[in-house]
Amino acid sequence: MCEAQISLRGVSFVFNPGTSRERAALRDISGEIYRGEFLAIIGPNGAGKSTLARHLNALLLPTRGEVLVEGLSTADPANWWEIRRRVGMVLQNPDEQLVAPVVEEDVAFGPENLGLAPAEIRRRVDWALEVTGLAELRLRPPHLLSGGQKQRAALAGVLAMKPSCLVLDEPTAMLDPAGKEEVLQAVLRLHREEGLTVVLITHHMEEAALADRIWVLHGGRLALAGNPQEIFARREALREMGLGLPGPAELAWRLRSRGWTLPEGIVSFEELVAGLKKVLS
Ligand SMILES: Nc1ncnc2c1ncn2[C@@H]1O[C@H](COP(=O)(O)OP(=O)(O)OP(=O)(O)O)[C@@H](O)[C@H]1O
Ligand SMILES: [Mg+2]
Repeated sequence: MCEAQISLRGVSFVFNPGTSRERAALRDISGEIYRGEFLAIIGPNGAGKSTLARHLNALLLPTRGEVLVEGLSTADPANWWEIRRRVGMVLQNPDEQLVAPVVEEDVAFGPENLGLAPAEIRRRVDWALEVTGLAELRLRPPHLLSGGQKQRAALAGVLAMKPSCLVLDEPTAMLDPAGKEEVLQAVLRLHREEGLTVVLITHHMEEAALADRIWVLHGGRLALAGNPQEIFARREALREMGLGLPGPAELAWRLRSRGWTLPEGIVSFEELVAGLKKVLS
């Protein structure tokens, strides 16, 4: 699990350089995203998460620094097609991504562009619609879908390309609780069973807690990086950035501050229960 799939080297990005609307959105970010890992990216509004995501498949190019995808630099336009085939991106706003008159055509759009055989396209479209729970809406025009259904359709279109890395920018923001769970579980199943690298941008700390590693962005900088235990041990630093802890970690912290001798490193509900059992036994 330690082979770098995507490398960021001193990546800075400035919107509208040299104008009155100049805005530094990323500042000197370096790090590796490893093949097969699940990386969560968290940070307050405006931290640069979506801007960073768009650098991972050459939708944006660094103002300074370099992004390499499986060794291919995003700076070279000759690499873009290959990079975008390997790194699938579900944007924060699904309206930016849905183009065809009906859902199934939209999902087929990517595989068609890959030049796959019709039978393989059909197989992938059926599979992607099934995984995202859209099989019954396949003939619906995308503009008549709800926000959550649009988000699923955008995800289906990307999954049908069979990328080796999936970048999801708040993919469950518009979904109801059952839909959130369903889409997240579908993505995590692909991560576990097919080794898909997942980069998940989220405001939900419980979702981030499921990741192998977390990056915390703040003011365009990579402020913290570590596994969920390490990140959620930094309660004060996170609070200063306007971020909280997952529910079980916050509850453990509050109990500890009232004298309960709970173990450190509680992030999940199961860990909290185990810790409480130990205290109460
Ligand atoms: N197209 C743009 N032109 C100019 N500035 C932009 C543009 N898009 C984003 N920005 C600015 O860049 C910074 C980073 O924005 P970005 O969208 O990456 O944040 P984010 O972490 O994804 O926030 P959110 O949690 O709200 O989605 C912000 O200050 C934002 O105002
Ligand atoms: Mg964003």
